[in-house]
Amino acid sequence: MSDLQVVVQEITDEMQAMPNRGEVATYIPELAGVDPNQFALVVVDAQGNVAAGGDADVPFSIQSISKVFTLTLALGKFGDRLWERVGREPSGSRFNSIVQLESEHGIPRNPFINAGAIAVTDAIVAGHQPREALGEILRFMQFLAADDSIYIDHKVAASEARTGFRNAALANYMKSYGVIDGPVDYALGVYFHHCAIAMSCRQLAMAGRFLAHFGANPSTILPVVTPERARRINALMLTCGHYDGSGEFAYRVGLPGKSGVGGGILAIAPGKASIAVWSPGLDVSGNSKRGRLALERLSKRMEWSIFGA
Ligand code: DON
Repeated sequence: MSDLQVVVQEITDEMQAMPNRGEVATYIPELAGVDPNQFALVVVDAQGNVAAGGDADVPFSIQSISKVFTLTLALGKFGDRLWERVGREPSGSRFNSIVQLESEHGIPRNPFINAGAIAVTDAIVAGHQPREALGEILRFMQFLAADDSIYIDHKVAASEARTGFRNAALANYMKSYGVIDGPVDYALGVYFHHCAIAMSCRQLAMAGRFLAHFGANPSTILPVVTPERARRINALMLTCGHYDGSGEFAYRVGLPGKSGVGGGILAIAPGKASIAVWSPGLDVSGNSKRGRLALERLSKRMEWSIFGA
């Protein structure tokens, strides 16, 4: 067994023995019904070695983690022009907050809060039918993970659409400022569906490899994005990836990371590894409770914090 596999298994055992797992999201039945005892941790290192612990092959709802990949796609299409409609500053607010939008003329603080992600999705949809845009997002995920079995959970998407009044409010509000170009329903529909993509930790860690390896997919050596863009996406994940919990995540884990309300986190140790963790119970900011703790222990034991050992 490799040292990495030993550490991953140790942390998995520790997390599975932990009594306080946090509360699962309850706003849709598909998330409310998830067993909070599940836990998975998968690390793919620079050599392509995979270390996996727990429920590594169980698909879960990636939710806001999808925002990393839609941002990557939108930057590919628009380059720096994307920053005319979305900012790059941490919000210090909850993921679905509307408060800053009025004083900031409908421009969302960053691409990872819901408003910012909806604006990014609108950019991807531009000039396409929603179905085409969604197909492009899903195929991108399948390509990055080298796995065609990744799918959209249509029940989750339908529940998101049925309950997504606040997201609809954010989108309409941005539309009133002209920040959303296309039909609000198109951007929202595609947003609800990309949040409903289901992936396992193994698939997610594979999909994140380009961010850990300076923009290139290590198995093909082909660039997905430039090294500069990968570095900048990582910077945004560090500063904004956990909403109002981003400071605490940087303080404790010291790695770029993006959480989802399904309990997943994608974390990147630049030059070293792509890491996916899943534990459905959340903390008060809506980020995975055991997931963050597992990453804190992993980055400490592997000395992977970008701020030094
Ligand atoms: O739009 C929403 O509210 C959800 N589909 C995604 C939110 C989310 O994952 C927030 N992250 N912790």
